[in-house]
Amino acid sequence: MAQNLTERSQAITVAENITRLVPYRPGKPIAEVERELGITGIIKLASNENSLGPSPKAVEAMQQFAAKMHHYPDAASYDLRQALAAHLHVAPETIVLGNGSDDIIHLLGVTFLEPGDEIIQGDPSFVRYAAAAILNNAPCHSVPLSADWVHDTDAMAQCINAHTRIVFIPNPNNPTGTTVGRAALQRLLDKLPERALLIIDEAYYEYATDAPDYPDSLQWVRDGRNVVVLRTFSKAYGLAGLRLGFGVMPPHLAEWLHRTREPFNVNLMAQAAGVAALSDTAHIARTVALNNEGKQEFSRAFTQWGLDYTQSWGNFVWVNVGRDCRAVFDALLHRGVITRTGDIFGAPTHLRVTIGTPEENAKFLIALQEVLQA
Ligand SMILES: Cc1ncc(COP(=O)(O)O)c(C=O)c1O
Repeated sequence: MAQNLTERSQAITVAENITRLVPYRPGKPIAEVERELGITGIIKLASNENSLGPSPKAVEAMQQFAAKMHHYPDAASYDLRQALAAHLHVAPETIVLGNGSDDIIHLLGVTFLEPGDEIIQGDPSFVRYAAAAILNNAPCHSVPLSADWVHDTDAMAQCINAHTRIVFIPNPNNPTGTTVGRAALQRLLDKLPERALLIIDEAYYEYATDAPDYPDSLQWVRDGRNVVVLRTFSKAYGLAGLRLGFGVMPPHLAEWLHRTREPFNVNLMAQAAGVAALSDTAHIARTVALNNEGKQEFSRAFTQWGLDYTQSWGNFVWVNVGRDCRAVFDALLHRGVITRTGDIFGAPTHLRVTIGTPEENAKFLIALQEVLQA
């Protein structure tokens, strides 16, 4: 039997590029840590979720639609696209919805990367861009961030060649929280060849609007430039578990994605919850205010302890703990706090920590102080 299995598994081969893909490593779930360590009261500050949860209006919408799940969702997501179009002041034809913005990143790669095409990304940045490159056999140029962890758009521009098809800029960046200003993005955009796309990933948009010179990137879409703006309901909207994100792009690009996406890639509950969540602007305001308070609290503590950290415009901080981040991560885990290690982003002494509720932030800071003093 065992031999049969081995023989069978050896008979299955995949393309060389597929062997280079590695499964995504998500933040450790609370239940897993409880099981492994036998402790309770754990907090998760590892996946940049909104600790306040979703808007109560979104929860109510989901409850209402739970009894309608025998119906297929609207494949065109008409209501949600209309609501988003009004909210963003763009035409509904510019919006492509996805099963999270991950789905749109995947679709952009599948749809637009032809043999010989290349992508350019910053390093470190969100790991799904490189995955899209590998999946579609496209060489990926990873351009180091500047010394202060900001995307070096001029160095990225120097990597542009005739094969460049996609340039990814997360703004703010994950894991560093840093932003790129309007002028720098405009310079990069103007250097792109005609068939190349600039993907501006604004997963943390709601937290970032006060960042210096933060661009109104949707204007490039309205102007018909080859720009795709990614947004999500997973972060400030607190709906990560529902999987709902979208891309805004000129209709000549959106049309292709409507061909490659699954017909029902956004479920019924997600469409209803999205409309309701958009209407609850007070929930977003509360979320952003709480995040700003938490950010200040973290900054005060890190400054006092002499730890280097970036000026983050997301709902997380990027801090240099000055020693092996895996050891610090493990010690925090035993104190009931799940964080994210920097080594997966090539920064072996950094942690990425989501900003939570005041209680969660206090628990993390007490735990970190104990660990660093030990
Ligand atoms: C920069 C960035 N883009 C996209 C995503 C994907 O988010 P989702 O697929 O939940 O919309 C994340 C999630 O962490 C992210 O940090």
